[in-house]
Amino acid sequence: MAEMIDHPCVQHKLAIIRDVETGHKRFRELATEITKFICYEALKNIKTKEVTVQTPVAAAKCHKIDTDLVVVPILRAGVGMLEGILELVPTARVGFVGLYRDEETKLPVTYYERFPVQIKGGTCIIIDPMLATGGSTAATIEKLKESGAGSIVVVCIVTCPEGIALVETAHPDVLIYAAAIDEKLNEKKYIVPGLGDAGDRLFGTSH
Ligand code: PRP
Ligand code: URA
Repeated sequence: MAEMIDHPCVQHKLAIIRDVETGHKRFRELATEITKFICYEALKNIKTKEVTVQTPVAAAKCHKIDTDLVVVPILRAGVGMLEGILELVPTARVGFVGLYRDEETKLPVTYYERFPVQIKGGTCIIIDPMLATGGSTAATIEKLKESGAGSIVVVCIVTCPEGIALVETAHPDVLIYAAAIDEKLNEKKYIVPGLGDAGDRLFGTSH
């Protein structure tokens, strides 16, 4: 299932990050800001435990997060979302998957993988600004499941029906959160209208 975060504050920032005139410094800032908003929503159902805290006035029953959270950015563009989620949950652990889309086949190629041991039974949040064909996200979900992940959530900035369908078919248990579900993929498997090459725009590189 995919949920679009259509809050005006998110949609306003999305309009700016999509703009071809937005440079890499502002693009990075916006990726952080948008990520924080989407993750706020994506984490609404995580496990909490009741604790009692003494305020200056009285004892208060409160709730604290009670699960090992592992954030998994898909290199390289996923790194652009890391600061945003860590501002929200500073105690989260971080695992990395290095994947790139082969220019010809458009299929993901793995070049790096490192997960914390706490991934076993933990809650994993995959972050990547673009879920296009869905190949990179589906491959990452498979790796996390093989490593014993308890539950998995995907947070992206822009996705499209083709990518959602691929992930949903292979992994119906995984929820996808996005700021936008765009129209389609083009012949180069880029999201239309999308925001272009997220990695290049984040890091100021070009093909
Ligand atoms: C982009 C993006 C995703 C992937 C999405 O990465 O950040 O990881 O493509 O495409 P998919 O859903 O069709 O698999 P890219 O391969 O450009 O690598 P980069 O992050 O290193 O720029
Ligand atoms: N990767 C990107 O960075 N953008 C797209 O639209 C598709 C894949």
